[in-house]
Amino acid sequence: MKRRHFLSSFAAAAVTCPLIGCAPCSHQDDDQPAGTNQTDKSAAGGTPDKSQVDYSQKKKLVIYFSLTGNTRHVAEHTAKLLGSEIFEIVPTVPYPTEYDVVVKQAKEEQDRDFRPEIVSLCDRLPDAEVVFLGSPCWWGTVAMPVMTFLERSDFAGKVIVPFMTHGGSKFGRTLADLDRFCPKADRLKGLTVWADDVPQSDPQVQQWLASLGMITADA
Ligand SMILES: Cc1cc2nc3c(=O)[nH]c(=O)nc-3n(C[C@H](O)[C@H](O)[C@H](O)COP(=O)(O)O)c2cc1C
Repeated sequence: MKRRHFLSSFAAAAVTCPLIGCAPCSHQDDDQPAGTNQTDKSAAGGTPDKSQVDYSQKKKLVIYFSLTGNTRHVAEHTAKLLGSEIFEIVPTVPYPTEYDVVVKQAKEEQDRDFRPEIVSLCDRLPDAEVVFLGSPCWWGTVAMPVMTFLERSDFAGKVIVPFMTHGGSKFGRTLADLDRFCPKADRLKGLTVWADDVPQSDPQVQQWLASLGMITADA
């Protein structure tokens, strides 16, 4: 099946947007086995070897934002397999439902570094040791409500495991942005799922969690 690429659909805007220009050229390879990803902070920063850590016993939490349901699907399946709690980031003012309108609005918000208000922060976050953080790719990085959430929450000492649904950019600039927003958090290898593949992504999610040692392979 031929996939529609977000960036080709919005090529005109991409030309005028220096930020998005780098999104599809990212070398952050999310298809490698766990632990070999060069974007993993342990590989780059010399933190303890995560293969020695037993994540199965750590307290986990799934936090996500989703506009059209793709990221919600991955988030809910992740939480189900982990047996963890799940929290949705909800903007106080809902985004428009018309695709072209929200794409334009998001671009404008990103250009002025806008932070939309969100309904609440997550009161279960302080207890969590491993946070699975999901967002749709919006103009090459996490959606703005996720940025609001990250800036207003304390991730120090936690492990962040990112996941993203997208229309071709994979993580784009997300991993670098997460490290910027949460400099005191560690980060494990994330998962990206193309929007069209979301309905069939459950086995991929299971494989990813098993590869990180979060669940057993036959969970
Ligand atoms: C405002 C907006 C911006 C987007 N920007 C990108 C992008 O830069 N790169 C990309 O691959 N897909 C982009 N997409 C496509 C979404 O990432 C994709 O459809 C995603 O699966 C939507 O997730 P959701 O259903 O959880 O909202 C964008 C979609 C929207 C609505």
